[in-house]
Amino acid sequence: MMPNSSISSMINPVPGGFYKMNTKEKEKYIEEFDFPFCDEASKYEKITKIGQGTFGEVFKAKDRKNPAKIVAMKKVLMDNEKEGFPITALREIKILQLLKHENVVNLIEICRTRATLDNKYRSTFYLVFDFCEHDLAGLLSNVNVKFSLGEIKRVIQQLLNGLYYIHSNKILHRDMKAANVLITKNGILKLADFGLARAFSQCKNGQVNRYTNRVVTLWYRPPELLLGDRNYGPPVDLWGAGCIMAEMWTRSPIMQGNTEPQQLALISQLCGSITPETWPGVESLELYNKIELARGQKRKVKDRLKPYVKNPYACDLLDKLLVLDPQKRCDADAALNHDFFWSEPMPCDLSKMLAQHTQSMFEFTMQSRRQGVLRQVNTPWIAYFFNRKTAVHEGLTFYRLDLRSD
Ligand SMILES: Nc1ncnc2c1ncn2[C@@H]1O[C@H](COP(=O)(O)OP(=O)(O)OP(=O)(O)O)[C@@H](O)[C@H]1O
Ligand SMILES: [Mg+2]
Repeated sequence: MMPNSSISSMINPVPGGFYKMNTKEKEKYIEEFDFPFCDEASKYEKITKIGQGTFGEVFKAKDRKNPAKIVAMKKVLMDNEKEGFPITALREIKILQLLKHENVVNLIEICRTRATLDNKYRSTFYLVFDFCEHDLAGLLSNVNVKFSLGEIKRVIQQLLNGLYYIHSNKILHRDMKAANVLITKNGILKLADFGLARAFSQCKNGQVNRYTNRVVTLWYRPPELLLGDRNYGPPVDLWGAGCIMAEMWTRSPIMQGNTEPQQLALISQLCGSITPETWPGVESLELYNKIELARGQKRKVKDRLKPYVKNPYACDLLDKLLVLDPQKRCDADAALNHDFFWSEPMPCDLSKMLAQHTQSMFEFTMQSRRQGVLRQVNTPWIAYFFNRKTAVHEGLTFYRLDLRSD
């Protein structure tokens, strides 16, 4: 049995006990506390800010002892916490510690700042990752970055490899979008941002899961979530993979709704009307009868994408990913076996193409370079939906991204 004194030293880890200390002593104790397995953030030197997410800032930094080691530090947002460590960040860390794969971002460690009077005795915590030179949203927003068909194949193949791995480990990503897909200068793709990820399980004995459906960035959100499904699974990520795959050619997100009903309308314009004939069981989803759904829309995925995508295998795979009924949507394994990846030109290495671009490209840094209300659209894809040219500025055509008056 554990002697009494060691139990008391676990609760009150200093002689006399934490609770018996006066305020000055407590502050000194907190300042000097040495967190085991959690180094000080000052071991890294911040170089520049590369991301501003919903959950905090991301910085590029270098290891002071080994300046060749470059990392990304994601600050854990503690503002809303009255006490303790945010449960959402704990979930992200737990999932990242489980996932170790070439196509998943590598979490190196968690670091913290010292608690001092200056920060009111509240440490800041950082998730420290291997640094990746680009994110896909940044690359796609730069017209000078040109992907060949073989390179596009390699990107999507790696994306699906990552999804196959996480789904095999019973993890849903739930925030697939181009900004959450990182690419190293060597052309290795890493799924990132597990801030909304969760474990999933197949329900047994007729029970149903009740996961939140307030996940996935609107433009990449699949129809089942928009209709209020709470018993969803891996197909939610495959829908996002389809949107990202199409974006490799259109260069901007293919369905940019402002509201949930608008997003559903855009989905119906592309994938056809949502009906119990094409999607058996859809009528039992919570919002099916509460939202007015477009009727009589034909499925036009291949027709709409053909002018951009051109390659028939690519169009066919997109058609299998952007399927309304999640049960009929292609899974990562089947997608990886698609002829798209097994026909000429075969998937090819990206490092040569990326070597021509020495500057890092991130959604955040590219955005700050293109400030203003209008967003430059590199292809006329948006015009399909918006059909409204708004301005021509310095030879570039801008399209309004606002749907409200259409
Ligand atoms: N390991 C990394 N290497 C390079 N850049 C990274 C890395 N991790 C994150 N970033 C950059 O920081 C951005 C924000 O990171 P992340 O998506 O993890 O944070 P977030 O707060 O959850 O973002 P959001 O809520 O906007 O999705 C990414 O889009 C990417 O550009
Ligand atoms: Mg993100």
